[in-house]
Amino acid sequence: MEPRKIILDCDPGHDDAIAIMLAAKNPAIDLLGITVVAGNQTLDKTLVNTLNVCQFLDLDVPVYKGCGQPMIRDKQVIAPEIHGESGLDGPQFEALSRDPESQHAVNYIIDTLLASDGDVTVVTTGPMTNLAMAMRLCPDILPKIHEIVLMGGCYQLGNMTPAAEFNVLADADAAHVVFTSGRSITMVGLDVTRKVLCLPSIVERMGKNQTRAAKLFVDLMMFFNKTQKQVFGWDGGPLHDPVTIAYLLDPTVLTTKSCFTQIDIRSEQSYGRTNCDLFNIFKRPPNSFVAVDIDVAKFWDIIEMGIRAYA
Ligand code: RIB
Ligand code: CA
Repeated sequence: MEPRKIILDCDPGHDDAIAIMLAAKNPAIDLLGITVVAGNQTLDKTLVNTLNVCQFLDLDVPVYKGCGQPMIRDKQVIAPEIHGESGLDGPQFEALSRDPESQHAVNYIIDTLLASDGDVTVVTTGPMTNLAMAMRLCPDILPKIHEIVLMGGCYQLGNMTPAAEFNVLADADAAHVVFTSGRSITMVGLDVTRKVLCLPSIVERMGKNQTRAAKLFVDLMMFFNKTQKQVFGWDGGPLHDPVTIAYLLDPTVLTTKSCFTQIDIRSEQSYGRTNCDLFNIFKRPPNSFVAVDIDVAKFWDIIEMGIRAYA
């Protein structure tokens, strides 16, 4: 079977780093490039974090610097309370000798999609600014997008406000552009990612694999679990972003429901809410497959398989 071509757009971020690790060495995935956006930390930091992860894991994947601000709003939201001042606190990396490509991420997304046969999946695990800007700059890419798989949103409780999840809240206008693009979207929200808590027993299990990826996983999760406990009281951090990659590797890991999803970009109190019309109250045509359940055991098996793919 042909490997699945993907562009991974991310804001490392501890869980983004695990998503990169999972995608980069699996023969079922052809990771064409990694595009970086501001999110968990400012763009200068998320870019360095991405390069450090690629260098530590010895990944031969081009990295592209993207947008450092939301499309429209002036207020930039970051998450140091979860990811630390660097955005990837915990691991100690060697001196960075990797550089990003010279092309801007938005132009890379456009050029790659236009040159494709329409077989490229775009995975976003941060604010959707890069993808939305590409859609607005060059609408001709729309029919070239095979599928969008995004970590973001929630139909239950948010994590930045009671209504909104971080990736959508950080650039709700960008999320609106993506959800109104007409392309096939699989939305992996907090509703399922909060079911894959990286408990101490999971950290111990993954650490036994004695690979560089296992070491990175443990170093990342030791910090991530500490801050998630402080902020939310979880006994393990929800491993949000890798769920997107696990879904590409084995779609049966998720149960999804087709529905109309609309982004709240108007209200103050619920700004950034993904309103998933799971009961089809509005009778609007569906624009997304929303994840409503996850096979937790299967997910952790996929994570461990990814860790074992490294020396
Ligand atoms: O709300 C969780 C999401 O926001 C994850 O992608 C995390 O990395 C942050 O980007
Ligand atoms: Ca992320």
